[in-house]
Amino acid sequence: MFEATTHETPKVGTREDRWWQGAVIYQIYPRSFLDTNGDGVGDLPGIERRLDHVAELGADAVWISPFMRSPMKDYGYDVADYCDVDPLFGTMSDFDRVREKAHALGLKLLIDLVFSHTSDRHPWFAESRASRDDPKADWYVWADARPDGSPPNNWLSHFGGSAWTWDPRRRQYYLHNFLVEQPQLNLWSDEVLAAVLDVARFWLDRGVDGFRLDAIDVAIHDRHLRDNPPRPQGLLHLGGPPATPFSMQVQLYNKARPELSDRVLKPLWQLTDEYHARMLLGELGSDIGLQRAAEHSAGGGLDIAYTFDILQPNPTARVIREILERAENAIGGGWMCWSLSNHDVVRAVTRFARGQPPTEALRRLIPVMLCCLRGTVCLYQGDELGLEEADLAFEDLHDPFGITFWPAFKGRDGCRTPMPWRGDGPTGGFTESRPWLPLPASHLERAVDRQAADPGSVLNHTRAFLHWRRTQPALVTGSKHFLDVGHDDVVALERTEGGTRLLTLFNLAAEPVDLRLPYAVEDSGCPCQPDQPTGDTIRLGGHGFAILRARGV
Ligand code: BGC
Repeated sequence: MFEATTHETPKVGTREDRWWQGAVIYQIYPRSFLDTNGDGVGDLPGIERRLDHVAELGADAVWISPFMRSPMKDYGYDVADYCDVDPLFGTMSDFDRVREKAHALGLKLLIDLVFSHTSDRHPWFAESRASRDDPKADWYVWADARPDGSPPNNWLSHFGGSAWTWDPRRRQYYLHNFLVEQPQLNLWSDEVLAAVLDVARFWLDRGVDGFRLDAIDVAIHDRHLRDNPPRPQGLLHLGGPPATPFSMQVQLYNKARPELSDRVLKPLWQLTDEYHARMLLGELGSDIGLQRAAEHSAGGGLDIAYTFDILQPNPTARVIREILERAENAIGGGWMCWSLSNHDVVRAVTRFARGQPPTEALRRLIPVMLCCLRGTVCLYQGDELGLEEADLAFEDLHDPFGITFWPAFKGRDGCRTPMPWRGDGPTGGFTESRPWLPLPASHLERAVDRQAADPGSVLNHTRAFLHWRRTQPALVTGSKHFLDVGHDDVVALERTEGGTRLLTLFNLAAEPVDLRLPYAVEDSGCPCQPDQPTGDTIRLGGHGFAILRARGV
């Protein structure tokens, strides 16, 4: 454990500086960003070296997925020491340099905190499992077997099988919502809560601007350990059992508990409020994610809520509209965070292409559509290049989730392949040795250096768009209103702020559509816009879009 060091003078804050509202957060998956020491795995010095790329792109902040000490069973989401950097990624001094460089470039820095569980190698777990009388005996969720020896209830792990594993030392089961090696912390314990608050303070003192709270909706479980009900037939798996049985239950008792807010989120919020301009972004992934997002981000202890609703496997314009509308109706005074890709789901370009080869127009549309949504947005590394999901062989897989459910579910490695920085070599300038996951040839063609040299590339297009977006308060914090433009494949949103009303139109089909505009419009000045109106109509090309200003408003 490192001593906490104060790098920036903490000031009492009361959330007057809500820099995150409407911000573009660039997500870095550290294993796959840039390797500087030749071990085939990305590292913190690699992030420091390439932060210019993020600043040039026009992002406001970076979120770095976990880089703390970990046995890497879940690639960093299994933490063995919250206050130390894993040697694979570098040292605490490397982290300090990342923070200094980010701040020098005007980027805010968010880190991932995984408070719902630790690694089974965390010393806390070693103590907790040692005996039922240990001082840390109740730091994890332990329960006796049922009389027939089976687990205490029917809860299932996200990654397959029962959420309970038998421990021969204590002769009890322990709870793990993910891997067996990720025992669930018991945040009902005051001591555990105090310990995680200390961890948060450590990083706040080290100058981070906020936290992404990983899987925070499983942080509190039902104290009576009641069984989850089965999911009503037909609700999710009309075609028979899904690839993983997890979705056959409604996670009523191990997830999205109403007690989370008072018990965990509010104390964390109060802690961050002792500092100036810090924030909490919470990952919520349940059936009632949008409801909880609204409750938690409107005074319930989060500043922003991130749900999985929009990360649909088969997105259509109708589905996207429905989700956005539901969110808008639910959110009230809260604040959403949207992303179309991340390190857990198939890349957006591939999902939106719906089984067809992705078009260039689609690759350009994705970052623009994302950054026109009302809320904060997270742009995942590689989305600015229009990368599609990598198609990996079973032998290449690392993700235990994919290895268990292959081939019905291929896991999450296909969205985690290394960033292609240069197009002239097999490892894309990511590493001088063998990358931990292969880079597909199609990604090399889309490498940063190639796209930087091409004025029409997705990268240059995204850069131009993000810099222009900053000058448009309507797109950053403006209100949102849906329009029915009479076409099923089109998402039409109006964003309004002060005297400006912007009409944003996105054609999610590969074929062109002709639309009648709802009112008179003029050029908004949006760069790289593929489609322009003719009189009161507009033809949007396949995957085309337009951002237009309402005339006379
Ligand atoms: C992270 C995953 C991780 C899981 C368990 C999440 O939702 O995004 O990558 O496997 O939490 O920590």
